[in-house]
This record gives sequence, C-alpha cells and structure tokens, in this order.
Amino acid sequence: MKKHNYPLSYPLVLALVLAAGVALWTTQANAQTNATAEPDLPAVPYEYANISLPQHYLRPPVVNQDNTPANNPITNEGATLGRVLFYDTRLSANNTISCASCHQQSHSFSDPDALSTGFAGGLTARNAMSLADARYFQPGTFFWDERAATLEDQVLQPIQNSVEMGLTLDEMVAKLQATSFYPPLFEQAFGTPEINSERVSLALSQFVRAMVSYEAKYDVGVASNFSNFTPQENLGRQLFNGRGNCNACHRTDAFVAEESTNNGLDAVTTDAGLGGITGNPADNGKFKVPSLRNIEVTGPYMHDGRFSTLAEVVEFYNSGVQSHPNLDPRLRTPNSQPRRLNLTNTEKAALVAFLQTLTDDSFIHDPKFSNPFLTHTLYLPLLQR
Ligand code: HEC
Ligand code: HEC
Repeated sequence: MKKHNYPLSYPLVLALVLAAGVALWTTQANAQTNATAEPDLPAVPYEYANISLPQHYLRPPVVNQDNTPANNPITNEGATLGRVLFYDTRLSANNTISCASCHQQSHSFSDPDALSTGFAGGLTARNAMSLADARYFQPGTFFWDERAATLEDQVLQPIQNSVEMGLTLDEMVAKLQATSFYPPLFEQAFGTPEINSERVSLALSQFVRAMVSYEAKYDVGVASNFSNFTPQENLGRQLFNGRGNCNACHRTDAFVAEESTNNGLDAVTTDAGLGGITGNPADNGKFKVPSLRNIEVTGPYMHDGRFSTLAEVVEFYNSGVQSHPNLDPRLRTPNSQPRRLNLTNTEKAALVAFLQTLTDDSFIHDPKFSNPFLTHTLYLPLLQR
C-alpha cells in the first residue's frame, strides 16, 4: 500500500523547524548571561563533599595525590557558591565571559579552541586546560608552567588577567555585593554574608576540586579486570602501560603526572614553560600536563593546542619526538636519542581506543557541574519580548 507521508509529516517538519529556531535563539540569548541574571539552585544542595568514589580513588597512590589543603575542604555550600561564581559573567569587565566560557563542561572543562578568547576579544597565550582531576596533581601547583603556587592562588588570576576577564578584585567584590543572591550564598558557605576575594578563591577552588571523573568505561574496567573492554581497547591499555610507557608520566588511575616534563614537542625552546618561572635553563620547555581523563573531548592538545586529534598525538609519540636538551629520559633510547615506537596502524588505533575509554559521560553531563544561570532559558527570552 502506498503511504501518504508528506501531508502527515508537514506539521511535524514545521514543528521541528520552529523548535530548532527557538533553541538557537535561546542559546544566543544566553551565550551572554546578562548582568541581572540570577542562578537557579536546588533547594537541597548537590552533593560535592561526600561523593562515593570507587575503591581505586580511595587507596594509594591516588588518594595521596590529592592536593586539597587542610584549610579548604570541600563543603556542599562552598562548592555551590563556587559553581555560581564559575558560571557568572559578572566576573569579567564587560559581563561577557565566565570561567565556563573557556572551561566548558562538555569539553571536560576545557574548550575546543587552540587559544581561548577573552572578554575584549584577545587571545590567551596557551591552550585552556581541562579541569577534570586537577585535584590530583600532587605538587598542588597550577597552570602549564606551574606559576600558581596553589589552586587558591590560581582561581583569582583569570579574573584579574587583562586578556581573560579584566577586573580588579575590588571591582569584583563590588559587583557581587550589588546582587541580592550572593550575600546569602556566602553566608551559607562561610557563616556570614561578608564577600571578599579570599572567600571567592576558597569557593571557586572547592568547585574545581569537586570535578573528579570516576565513571568512565575505564573505571568499570578497573573493577572487573577490564573484561568490559574490547580486544582493541585492551591492546591499547597494554601499549599505554607497556611499550608506550605512557603511564610513566600520565600516572595512576587519575592519569595525572607527578611533575612537569619535556615531552619533545620542539627541538628548540619556543615557550620556556616551567623554565620561564624558575629561571633555570634545565626547566625550559617543561610543562605540567592535565589529567588524561576525558581526553577525547578536550582537544586540541598540548600547551599550544598544536594537535587536533588523538591520532595526531599518538603519531607524535610514535615518530615525532624531538631531541630537546631537556627531553625527558623516559622518551629517549638507551643511547639518548628520541625514542621511536614503530607502532603498526593497528596498535596506533588501539592506543586511541584506549584513551577513549577515559571518556566519562556522567561527568560531562552531571547537573551539579552545569550552568545554574541557564535553567530559565526556555521561557525567559519569550517573556522579555
Ligand atoms: C579566556 C579564557 C579563560 C577564562 C575566562 C578562564 N580560564 Fe582558566 N585557563 C585558561 C587557560 C588558557 C589556561 C592555561 C594558561 C596557562 O597555563 O598559561 C587556564 C588554566 C586554568 C587552570 C589550571 C589548571 C591546572 O591543572 O593547572 C585552572 C584551575 C583554571 N584555569 C580555572 C579557571 C577559573 C576558576 C576561571 C574563572 C575565575 C578561569 N579559569 C577562567 C583559560 C581561561
Ligand atoms: C616523559 C613523560 C611523558 C611520557 C612518557 C608521555 N607523555 Fe604524554 N605528555 C607529557 C607532557 C609533559 C605533556 C604536555 C606537553 C606540552 O603540552 O608541552 C603531555 C601531553 C599529552 C597529551 C595531551 C594532553 C592535553 O591535555 O593536551 C596526550 C593525549 C598524551 N600526552 C598522551 C600520551 C601517550 C599516549 C603517551 C604514550 C605513547 C604519552 N603521552 C607519553 C608527558 C609524557
């Protein structure tokens, strides 16, 4: 029998087009939270303090990598305040940029650009770092070149950075004080409604440290001897921990390095990295590397975003490591030459497949890490017309 689809589906098509239009329009409207926006928060705060981490996060070595300081443990109210601050465009001079502009949840709190765009259109000097498991860099220093001594120091720097957000801390405090909702949030977090930059720093740090990713296919695998992995993923895992020696630097189940190293991206120093901070030539071209968790969604890769895909990264480690004077010994042959892995195409694809098992969909969709200013998006713009 012949079906007359066209007349029936016409209203459906129309509805879809309209829905797409509304979705686009609201995304546009909310790309910039306006200066009067208020967050929509759950009546009972989300759980940030007591998450049920799997065993491999609770025992050494991972548990010993935690850089949470004794004076700033995560509380649900503190991290809730941190979440609001993280998504608030008031933290930039012209109310256009929030932390989340460059640290997007869908990209594991990184962004898809090689260099990120600040409040006045300027570009950052380096690639935005993924924040998943930032809590497990044991030295507790932050940025690609470790220039922030603690996370508490780090989180105030983008706000004052002339490219990124462009505010003084006094201006920031005044803007937060001018709202009705911040004083109660500070009171819930710290006992009194007083707003100051130290409290902003503590709350933002709590929210960032709460970003632990522990529900990837990999985590199911740890608990089940990787019987959930495909043969290809298991081959990749063996290469990562074996011939590739990747786990010598991207360490433990948190996949976090224990120090900055030079991985041979360039034969000559183009960006001094850690050396620019310590002034020691032996540190030139050494960089901290964020956790590899969710690495599939954090591209482009490396401190300058030079590689677009994981396949390019793997090919670099396979055949492209350069002989920089500070190249880490773990990437050299016994006679000190840059290491060549000579992987087959099957092995390269397996390494990529293994890295993809670190993608944690729960983490990148968890509402407790989402934008609290977006809840009313579907009807607010309509009401404002
Ligand atoms: C305009 C883009 C942009 C904005 C806005 C921004 N960041 Fe970043 N963030 C970056 C870049 C780029 C880096 C790496 C810079 C470097 O190392 O030189 C970075 C690094 C970091 C790191 C270091 C991670 C690590 O493991 O060492 C943290 C933490 C961080 N940002 C948190 C924040 C917070 C909190 C805010 C809001 C107060 C914020 N960022 C705003 C682009 C941005
Ligand atoms: C000697 C230590 C070391 C070894 C061994 C090593 N890496 Fe790296 N890796 C680093 C450093 C350091 C960086 C960051 C370099 C930079 O951006 O300047 C990095 C960056 C990366 C990145 C990009 C991270 C990001 O957020 O952009 C990936 C992916 C990666 N490595 C995967 C691997 C794989 C796969 C292997 C094994 C084949 C491996 N690494 C071996 C030190 C190492």
